[in-house]
Amino acid sequence: MTETDEAYDEPLFFRVIQYAENADRDVVDMVSGNPDWEPPAALRDGLRDYAGADPPEFQYQASEGLGELREEIAARRNVDSSRLVATNGAGEANYLAMAAAMERGAGTEFLLTDPVYPYYPGKATMLGGSVTRVPVHEDGHVDVAGMRAAASEDTGAIVLNTPNNPTGAVYDIDAVAALADVAAEVDALLVVDEVYDHFDFTGRFESALTLDRDHVVVTSSFSKSMGITGFRVGYAVFPDDLVDAARTRHMLVNVTGSRPAQTAVAHALRETPPSYYESIRDTIRERIDALTAALDAIGADYTTPEGAFYVLARFADFPGTMANAERLIDEAGVAGMPGETFGDAYDDWIRFSLCTDRVDEAAARLTAYFEGS
Ligand SMILES: Cc1ncc(COP(=O)(O)O)c(C=O)c1O
Repeated sequence: MTETDEAYDEPLFFRVIQYAENADRDVVDMVSGNPDWEPPAALRDGLRDYAGADPPEFQYQASEGLGELREEIAARRNVDSSRLVATNGAGEANYLAMAAAMERGAGTEFLLTDPVYPYYPGKATMLGGSVTRVPVHEDGHVDVAGMRAAASEDTGAIVLNTPNNPTGAVYDIDAVAALADVAAEVDALLVVDEVYDHFDFTGRFESALTLDRDHVVVTSSFSKSMGITGFRVGYAVFPDDLVDAARTRHMLVNVTGSRPAQTAVAHALRETPPSYYESIRDTIRERIDALTAALDAIGADYTTPEGAFYVLARFADFPGTMANAERLIDEAGVAGMPGETFGDAYDDWIRFSLCTDRVDEAAARLTAYFEGS
């Protein structure tokens, strides 16, 4: 399906969250992807230290981001820091990457998966591009052959997200490499959003940066990995020939990013041990187990995430419509995201985010609701 004139509406996340907030009863929020866990201790230390800095440190930093942050990221991602723009989250990084695809003048169509994180089609249409969605395989993995068949000289970019929101799939690096080849063949970009890179439960995740290809832009952020969606610190790694234009666009839109936030993240990157990330993964694993045990008891179908922190569930005779998401809020006291908001492929499903310490309560409520129905 190709969409050309879709309005770039406000994403529906906010509508569901608002509905849950206005409900007459207590509701477990399993809509938002806002981590409920502690950030790294060093992040708080970095922020505290910053409060005592001298006034010159409260002024603009370099537009492309604080040097120490870009160096820390570049060293970890094994890329030259000249290719890296520090952005206001992965959200801006994805926007810069998709704008770069349009600016190249080599196609205005964005090839996306179905289901897809709704901000991608929103950005595509906002940028004046068209959207073609290619359904994923049954197991949630990207359909490489389907993408190859859909790609043409009109394609400006293929946009992927791995580990994936909402399916939880962690794409094989071979699949990502094959799509980098497809992008090169039709002179398009491959944009790979790796915002959930720290939430890989398979041990198989490999960044698209390891491919070291010309046509690939990788985006990410610290929103999820450090539990700081409010800080707005992310980045994009561009091929050499696209980085200058991206930097200029970033400067004209933002001047620069938030210096206190970038300073604290740079400090946290230096000081945070791997055990921090491991303990968060353990928490998510426990929450996956608690929710899926209830879904088993109910007899619902569900996805067991290989990565990220969302579970998709399909209940008998209860498709993933906005009306049913609202019913679930009112009648069960659990808020989930309707599958239809991610496209057509999962419109029978409801997505539950695991960013809450009330998963047990939600599991009990879902069990009572669906077993009683
Ligand atoms: C796939 C994906 N990309 C990007 C983002 C936004 O990330 P950030 O907060 O870094 O802008 C999200 C947030 O949920 C996401 O799920």
